[in-house]
Amino acid sequence: MRSALLIAAILGYGTLAYAEAERGLDLSALPEPGSVAPADGLVAWQRIHDVVTHPRCLNCHVGADNVPLWGTIDTPDSSHGMAINAGDSRIGAEGLSCRACHQTSTRPNTVPHAPPHTGMDWQLAPVEFQWTQRTGADICEQLRDPVRNGGRDAEGLVEHILHDAELIGFITWSFDPGAGRAPAPGSLQAHLEDMAIWTAAGMPCPTE
Ligand code: HEC
Ligand code: HEC
Repeated sequence: MRSALLIAAILGYGTLAYAEAERGLDLSALPEPGSVAPADGLVAWQRIHDVVTHPRCLNCHVGADNVPLWGTIDTPDSSHGMAINAGDSRIGAEGLSCRACHQTSTRPNTVPHAPPHTGMDWQLAPVEFQWTQRTGADICEQLRDPVRNGGRDAEGLVEHILHDAELIGFITWSFDPGAGRAPAPGSLQAHLEDMAIWTAAGMPCPTE
């Protein structure tokens, strides 16, 4: 039943054919819900952990100070230059809007140190999605908690990636940032598969 629901959710996903064509995503590799053992889910979680704690993702998933990061592998904590603060709006509506520099565009990013752009309006993730200053186990608990993940269930978490691929949004960009930036580890396809495996296993989290 749950697998029928997942397939229905995926088929019902209006522009998925476009997302597949656009990003070459292969959905046939995704496991059915309930078909994965928790131990295998934990192995997939470890790879998800390596993605969500990479600077490409962390730089936007920051805390209540609303300061975006210019983190790199060597300097993960460096704050955004020019004293940029996203405000409680997380899009800079209170001061200088993110879009003033990060223009919304699906064109590839090619110029090093230029403000990166995506097909979605550039902004910080909501503060409930803070991943900086959290342990891996905390992030895992947070990701599976609908109160702190934008109300998403297992299917919703997988669909979020497909939606992002369709728009060439932040997750898609993070795996192919261009302009000399280090990409998040793996690929969008691998991350999609890992999230499908982890959710199909019941979203197991490490105990510490
Ligand atoms: C005055 C122009 C300007 C504004 C306004 C601006 N940024 Fe930036 N941003 C930049 C530049 C330039 C870079 C690239 C810096 C580099 O690579 O050396 C950047 C990079 C970033 C990065 C790092 C991306 C990465 O992983 O490499 C994040 C995150 C970011 N900005 C978030 C924001 C947010 C959120 C806002 C709105 C609150 C914002 N920026 C507003 C110019 C701006
Ligand atoms: C440019 C900023 C930015 C970057 C970079 C970014 N995100 Fe996000 N993220 C957001 C925003 C904004 C939202 C809220 C939009 C939504 O919920 O659809 C969000 C929401 C999410 C959510 C759903 C909420 C949750 O915490 O469960 C997940 C999962 C997520 N991002 C994963 C990632 C991953 C994985 C990466 C790196 C591969 C990444 N993000 C990079 C801005 C960003």
